[in-house]
Amino acid sequence: MTESFENQWLRRSDAGGVAVQDVPAALGLRKEPTPTNVMETQSLQLWYSGRQVLKGVSVPVVQGKVTAIVGPSGCGKTTLLRSLNRLTDLSRNCRIEGKILLDGEDCMAMDPVALRRRVGMVFQRPNPFPMSIRENVLYGVRAQKRKKARFDEIVEASLRKAVIWDEVKDRLDESALNLSGGQQQRICIARTLAVSPEVVLMDEPAASLDPRSTAKLEESVMAMRGEYTVVAVTHELSQARRISENLVFIYEGHIVEFGETKQLFEDPREEATRDYLSGGLVTSIEEEEAAS
Ligand SMILES: Nc1ncnc2c1ncn2[C@@H]1O[C@H](COP(=O)(O)OP(=O)(O)OP(=O)(O)O)[C@@H](O)[C@H]1O
Ligand SMILES: [Mg+2]
Repeated sequence: MTESFENQWLRRSDAGGVAVQDVPAALGLRKEPTPTNVMETQSLQLWYSGRQVLKGVSVPVVQGKVTAIVGPSGCGKTTLLRSLNRLTDLSRNCRIEGKILLDGEDCMAMDPVALRRRVGMVFQRPNPFPMSIRENVLYGVRAQKRKKARFDEIVEASLRKAVIWDEVKDRLDESALNLSGGQQQRICIARTLAVSPEVVLMDEPAASLDPRSTAKLEESVMAMRGEYTVVAVTHELSQARRISENLVFIYEGHIVEFGETKQLFEDPREEATRDYLSGGLVTSIEEEEAAS
């Protein structure tokens, strides 16, 4: 007697350690939700003073996932990140072609301030405001005119997500400037999360932190998975591997490869990705030329 397909599959999945609840999806009986792209760049080109830095970048930003951007120094990571909430507008010598979409809307046609409310940013260096921890977290919330009754709730939830609640819950009215650099950076994360942005951008958020603070920060980014959409630039490949679900590898203004982090580290399509992720391609050609 031939065994039914379902049974064969179950036996195989038992042997392979695949969870039984995945069977309906595997049989096509239950559709997995299709990932949604909250943001997307399409053929994005960017010049500073006529010098091209981004050369036709098309990348999706998948909802609820942490996407890491990696690549050698000077390849355009910060530029790509800052273009997503039009911080690049602040450089007068900058010209952009191509599209940046947020929920299908053209970001270039939006009011930049409104865009930055929807697409928040955590910078490389912690930049808390000279005010209390509580007021730092509520800074953007007050502008949103949300119900005051919810303020305590928002402060606690945001500080918890930033993995700093336990350290500051008894000193919320103290100045944020009294905190350590690592704590200040997590306050900045809480401040960004408090306004419930659709996307959180982070540019090497752990660059100025010691290993212990870095571990806390990574914990916070991992806690955001599922609930927030995060795009983080990092120099640290091991960090990208730990914190991200999707990976963008950019090289001299081109996207070499985009995909699931695990797949890019274990079985990349491109030789250049393999070289870079295994520690080979560390400098850009320009840097090599400058050094020789
Ligand atoms: N405001 C600016 N005006 C002119 N050139 C700029 C400006 N900002 C960046 N650039 C140039 O654009 C290129 C890409 O810079 P970007 O900061 O995006 O690189 P990066 O990949 O983030 O590098 P790093 O890893 O060192 O932070 C570099 O050659 C840089 O000098
Ligand atoms: Mg940078």
